[in-house]
Amino acid sequence: MLLWGVYKVEDLYLGWIEQLDRGLSNWGKVAVPGDYRSIVVSGMGGSGIVGDYVAVLSSVSPRGLPVIVSKSHLVPEFIGSRDLVFVISYSGNTLETRMACMRARERGARLVIVSSDGYLEKFAVENNIPFIGVVKGIAPRTALPEMLYGVLGVLDSSGIGIVSREEAAGARDFLKDVLKEAVGEAYSIAEFIAEHDGLLILASHTPYESLVLRGKNEFNENSKIPVKVEVAPEWMHNDIVGWERPFPGNKYSVVAIVDPGDKPGSKLVDFMTGIYEKNNIPVYRFLLRGDSVLEKLLYGSLVLGLASVKLARMRGLDPLETMSIADYKSRVRDIFGA
Ligand code: F6R
Repeated sequence: MLLWGVYKVEDLYLGWIEQLDRGLSNWGKVAVPGDYRSIVVSGMGGSGIVGDYVAVLSSVSPRGLPVIVSKSHLVPEFIGSRDLVFVISYSGNTLETRMACMRARERGARLVIVSSDGYLEKFAVENNIPFIGVVKGIAPRTALPEMLYGVLGVLDSSGIGIVSREEAAGARDFLKDVLKEAVGEAYSIAEFIAEHDGLLILASHTPYESLVLRGKNEFNENSKIPVKVEVAPEWMHNDIVGWERPFPGNKYSVVAIVDPGDKPGSKLVDFMTGIYEKNNIPVYRFLLRGDSVLEKLLYGSLVLGLASVKLARMRGLDPLETMSIADYKSRVRDIFGA
């Protein structure tokens, strides 16, 4: 479906339904049953964010386990044979993730590798490590749904059903139904940000920390702007004081992400909005849709992803190009001495 013309990257986001379909058809193909103490998710950037989503989904499920998200070349010192470690790298080549993978293996943790290609795919095959292969040849950040459903499917079929296949299928149908509205909302958000410019603040309430972080990453990578993240109620215990005396002359705009079904959450964001408005900062209220946290995460991610792409187009930039990440990756071996 082409809603915004012929730009490939938009199609990658609008193709999320097909990614969810693939995730559902592979659901249960890999199982690693065991009596685990924790789930560790290791990965960077667009791959690492899957860990943040798994952590929040686990935290809102009575069947959840502690989830440790590790965006580093290191792994927690205490992990061992009772920990299930998902090593996620879309390209399969990210050095930090490869180093973390080797360290987790040395500690005897149970590994599952999620990737589309590269060194880690080869490593999984050669060493008989359970492997989830995802669609090849797209930008890592746009492969979020398939990587997420890959992990959730392994967990469910291993007896850690933080999301059942039925819930996952329901979320897929929901996203398909709201695709058009998501595009409209994304367009309005992009227009709002472009009109007000200044430093973009993404504000929300718990448990949507992972969604605002994903939004930040999307506006960083697709739109090429810095972004600040503010999340209530923790906001009320530090950020709020920063808004007493911001440097005069600095410009900001806020996109406030709200779950309308969450009364305290909405009221917390109302409180934040009052302070932003006292500082003459324009606020766009973005209401999440969906019945479950999974549906809200998928809807929010799609809207923020499309908005960040639209903003890049409005600024005449190529959303897909991430020159500075490529530059870092070309020099990362020196940094780690690898
Ligand atoms: C690019 C992107 C990046 C990468 C990150 C790690 O779309 O989202 O944040 O995800 O540089 O690379 P991979 O995912 O290949 O391990």
